[in-house]
Amino acid sequence: MDKNKTSIQPINWQDDALFLLDQRRLPAELIWLEYDHPNDVAIAIKDMVVRGAPAIGITAAFGVVLAARQAWNVAGVNWKQAMTAPLARLAESRPTAVNLHWAIHRMTALYETLPDNESAEQVLLKEAQAIHAEDIAANHVMGKLGADLIDPKSTVLTHCNAGALATGGFGTALGVIRQGYADGKIVQVYADETRPWLQGSRLTAWELQQDNIPVTLQAEGAVAALMATGKLDWVIVGADRITANGDVANKIGTYMLAILAKYHGVRMMVVAPTSTIDWQLNSGDEIPIEQRPEYEVTMINGQQIAPEGVPALNPAFDVTPASLIAVIVTEAGVILSPSTEKMLKIKE
Ligand code: MRU
Repeated sequence: MDKNKTSIQPINWQDDALFLLDQRRLPAELIWLEYDHPNDVAIAIKDMVVRGAPAIGITAAFGVVLAARQAWNVAGVNWKQAMTAPLARLAESRPTAVNLHWAIHRMTALYETLPDNESAEQVLLKEAQAIHAEDIAANHVMGKLGADLIDPKSTVLTHCNAGALATGGFGTALGVIRQGYADGKIVQVYADETRPWLQGSRLTAWELQQDNIPVTLQAEGAVAALMATGKLDWVIVGADRITANGDVANKIGTYMLAILAKYHGVRMMVVAPTSTIDWQLNSGDEIPIEQRPEYEVTMINGQQIAPEGVPALNPAFDVTPASLIAVIVTEAGVILSPSTEKMLKIKE
């Protein structure tokens, strides 16, 4: 495998429009959807056309470009005021992934410095493209830093999809796995199917298969038994938000894996760019957790799989305390046994 291979890139700007790979349809169909209105981009994020914290942030940045075009066309010199409503819709689209707010904030800080009497579209487009390129570059740096921590011939488990599809390209957790496989550090990957959206089976297994990286799929319920065999060396996951003390919000089920990993002596690695760190929050209790519709649990592909009317819990994320995490890998450095004090070192 070419270790610099970036794999698929789920977000593309082409011919003055945003194109998103529809991740709801994978792996059965590769369908690209075209967007030229910021409100449709907000709906695409909410409906999971694009998902994964860094990918959501990059998409929102391109959404701001579309908002600026629309605002200029509709409001002329008052375009900055006309940005408020579409940007609020983008910001509300998913509450947990902090990259969304980070990207909107970065784009807003830029356009506030721009003149009122000309269109900001081209300047903002360059910034969104820079956010996209920086994310891919960060993934490659994290890939190397993470792979360096892994002993040769290791077996790892990942949860959800923190791959090329969840980022600008290459991936965070899957970036480490891609790099680790290329370097002979990783020989086998186990992927949780990740109910209810099945990001593990639909997206992670597909991505790894494309790169010929050995992957075996299992239901999350099989993980304790798998760990008890002693086969696993690492659990490697991404993050949607990391607080100043090193607590990590990630796909529902991650906390359960972290407890199992601690019990079985398996190390837990969290891989995320610094755009995923929320320095405003002191601990994970403060992270807003997205609650998604009950039908995502009671139905699969429009097919009812539970008794009609039964209530269902559907939190999209949970919080893993820093004490259960062996290492957080960012592009600014690695934090072993994370704590507030150690986290601050990468802020400097
Ligand atoms: O609901 P999703 O699919 O957006 O959740 C994605 C995850 O939980 C990922 O692990 C996280 O965003 C990191 S992606 C590099």
